[in-house]
Amino acid sequence: MTKDWGRKDLLGLETLSAAEIETILDEAASFKKAPAPRVLAGRTVAFLFSEASTRTRSSFEAAALRLGAECLSFSAAGSSLSKGESMLDTMLNLQAVGVTHFVVRHERSGVLEDLAPRVNAAVVNAGDGWHEHPTQALLDLLTLRERWGSFKGRKLVVLGDIRHSRVARSNLFALKKLGAKVVFCGPTPLVPDAFAALGATIEHDVEKALKGADAVNVLRLQLERMEQGFVPSLADYALVYQLTPARAMLMKPDALVLHPGPMNRGVEIASEVADGPRSVVLEQVSNGVFVRMAALALCDRGRARG
Ligand code: CP
Repeated sequence: MTKDWGRKDLLGLETLSAAEIETILDEAASFKKAPAPRVLAGRTVAFLFSEASTRTRSSFEAAALRLGAECLSFSAAGSSLSKGESMLDTMLNLQAVGVTHFVVRHERSGVLEDLAPRVNAAVVNAGDGWHEHPTQALLDLLTLRERWGSFKGRKLVVLGDIRHSRVARSNLFALKKLGAKVVFCGPTPLVPDAFAALGATIEHDVEKALKGADAVNVLRLQLERMEQGFVPSLADYALVYQLTPARAMLMKPDALVLHPGPMNRGVEIASEVADGPRSVVLEQVSNGVFVRMAALALCDRGRARG
């Protein structure tokens, strides 16, 4: 039995212990070392995505298939959700069809906390509103752990639109538990001081934030979640906050550059940095498959234990 894991759902990292986070990372690392056992043979994974996705959806599908599961083709847009059926009824009906795992992306923050306890299937959060994106943060952590070994004493800057970012929140919850310092940096309207109460260090001066950092995680401006102009223009934002080669040089010589994607080149990050020697952006994407294999397999064991 895997140590430190008894859950059927992975909804966020805020409520996980450091040991549970390490368990997922260890499981992902073991899937990376050895050919995948078909531990999900006979299981059916359904994807309920009501927001766009390239990386998360494709890597969850690859993860499920590598572990021997079937993937149920389901499109929220063309389903009876559009006729007013509730999300819970949709999940219960899919469960009756044989679904054992739901991978859900939804625009409403916290939607899964209500739904997951009401179904027997495992539920894995693929991003809910501004709340959490646990597997994104876990793949960030796996990528960093492979380079660093340990998180203790490391400084990671999350640069950009923190206010609207589920990735920033999941990064903060996990990295703080594992002993790293997390600095949130961006314009004042996009980095509210309230995040300090969650354990982040707030710094609006990008040069000061990057000085001596071990890594930076660059976030795009989530214009689709902004109801008002939080920045004067993209050009103004880029002038002050874009991760340029000169700004990247302020970090430690071996510092790493991460980005969860999708990337808006020339806005939050310069192409020379995105494609440069410090960038681990595509390693993050590759590690996403192993982290998602771990999430699906561990939650399956939690589900089987009831
Ligand atoms: N990082 C991330 O969630 O990417 P997608 O929106 O493409 O899934």
